[in-house]
Amino acid sequence: MAPERIAVAADHAGVELKATLKETLGDLGYEVVDLGTDGPDSVDYPDFADKLAAALADGTAARGVLVCGTGIGISIAANRHPHVRAALCHDATDARLARQHNDANVLAVGARTMGQEKAIDCLKTFLETEFEGGRHQRRVDKMS
Ligand code: RB5
Repeated sequence: MAPERIAVAADHAGVELKATLKETLGDLGYEVVDLGTDGPDSVDYPDFADKLAAALADGTAARGVLVCGTGIGISIAANRHPHVRAALCHDATDARLARQHNDANVLAVGARTMGQEKAIDCLKTFLETEFEGGRHQRRVDKMS
């Protein structure tokens, strides 16, 4: 079976953490689609949220990871797309519940507000946790 593709994107504040999370994804056997940005030059996080939303819409990837300074701006921008359920997570509990209850398809983390180890924990939990469905499905359906 082909490895699942995960799209990743970040603004300039998230470049370093994006690289770390890419490495984790590779170690876990995922194929990574990196949508940038790749350097320290200042960019606008909505542009990268939009790129990731497009990658999910056209089937390039089923899930994604977004990073900005706080994770706030880039998750707000991503959630303007109806097919995106981006969850800003600060720990593994957030990530687990974002999957179990919200069927989040995008993990958002903040590079300036979270250590790398915690971000890796969020990512691993996000990837390995299944949506619980049931009453949560009804609620997720109401957002579509
Ligand atoms: C960029 O300086 C910063 O505003 C951005 O990365 C993010 O934290 C916005 O929510």
